Amino acid sequence: MPEAAAVADPMVPVPYRVLRQRREIDGVHTLDFEPAEGRTPFRALPGQFNMVYAYGIGEAAISLSGDCDDTKTIRHTIRKVGAVTAGLCSLGKGDSVGIRGPFGRPWPLDEARGADIVVVAGGIGLAPLRPAIYGLLAKRERYGRIAVLYGSRSPEELLFLDELKRWRGRFDLEVEATVDHTTGGWFGQVGVVTALIDRAGFDPDNAVALICGPEIMMRFCARELEHRGMSPADIYVSMERNMACGVGHCGHCQFGPEFVCKDGPVFAYDRVEPIMTLREV
Ligand SMILES: Cc1cc2nc3c(=O)[nH]c(=O)nc-3n(C[C@H](O)[C@H](O)[C@H](O)COP(=O)(O)OP(=O)(O)OC[C@H]3O[C@@H](n4cnc5c(N)ncnc54)[C@H](O)[C@@H]3O)c2cc1C
Ligand code: FES
Repeated sequence: MPEAAAVADPMVPVPYRVLRQRREIDGVHTLDFEPAEGRTPFRALPGQFNMVYAYGIGEAAISLSGDCDDTKTIRHTIRKVGAVTAGLCSLGKGDSVGIRGPFGRPWPLDEARGADIVVVAGGIGLAPLRPAIYGLLAKRERYGRIAVLYGSRSPEELLFLDELKRWRGRFDLEVEATVDHTTGGWFGQVGVVTALIDRAGFDPDNAVALICGPEIMMRFCARELEHRGMSPADIYVSMERNMACGVGHCGHCQFGPEFVCKDGPVFAYDRVEPIMTLREV
C-alpha cells in the first residue's frame, strides 16, 4: 500500500526566518519571511491571513500583504499595538517566527471577473488589500474599470507611498488618496475617504467593491456605495476579531453566527451588515 502523504497540522507553527524588514511609517513595519528549512511553496490567496507566532510572546492574526504569486516569500505588514505585534516589528534579518496558515476566505477576485472594481482602504487596511490589487493588475484584462481609493489620517500615515505613485501613473487604474488633516506640504485631497466614492468612475450595476479599514469607515463606505446604487451583496469587507485557533475550533472570533477565521475574514456586506450595526458583538 502506498504511504499516506503527511498532512500539515494547522495548529502547529512552521518555522520561518526573517529575510528582510522595513519600516513603512511610524509604528508599521513590513517583514518578509522565508522557510527556515526546505519547504513546499507557500500558496495563499489575497485576503487570507496567517497566525504569526513571536517566540516567547504569542500569536497574532496577520493578513498577507505581498504578491500571492510569489510562493517563496511571505510578506506581512504589521502595526505595533501590543506585545505580539511589537515583538514581531522588532525582529531583524535571520530572526525566527512560527507561521500557521494561510487561513480564511479570500477577496472574490474570480467572481468579480467582468465587473468594475472599487477598492477602498483606510489606514493600514491598504496592506490586506495590496495582494488583491496585485492580483487584479496581473490579470488586468479580466476586469472593467478599477478604482483604488485610499484614506489615512495624515500624509505621514499613507502606506506604500512609492507604490501608490507608481499605480497612479498607470492609464488603466484610477488612484485617489485623501487625508483627514494636514499641516502643509500635501497637495492632494483633504477629507474622508467616502467623499472619493462619490467621484470614482464605476458602473454600480456591474461593480464589486473591496473594503478594508476601521469598522466604522467600512460601514460608511458601504453606505456610500449603496447610495451610488450598488447592491450590498457586491460589497465585500474584511473583518477583524480576536483570534486564537484560526481554524474554527475555539470560538474566540465569533461574530454573531459567523466565525471570522473560517467564514471570513472577507464577508459580503449583506451577510454582516445586521451584525455590524448591533453594538457589543
Ligand atoms: C483576520 C485578521 C487580519 C489581521 N491583519 C493584520 C495585519 O495585516 N496587520 C496588522 O498589524 N494587524 C492585523 N490584524 C490585527 C492583529 O491581529 C492584532 O493587532 C494583534 O493580534 C494584536 O496583538 P498584540 O499582542 O500586539 O496586542 P494586544 O495586546 O492583544 O492588543 C492591543 C490592542 O489591540 C486590540 N486588538 C487586538 N487584536 C485585535 C483585533 N484582531 N481586532 C481589533 N482589535 C484588536 C486589543 O483589544 C487591544 O486594545 C488582523 C486581525 C485579524 C483578525
Ligand atoms: S479563532 Fe478559533 S474559532 Fe476563530
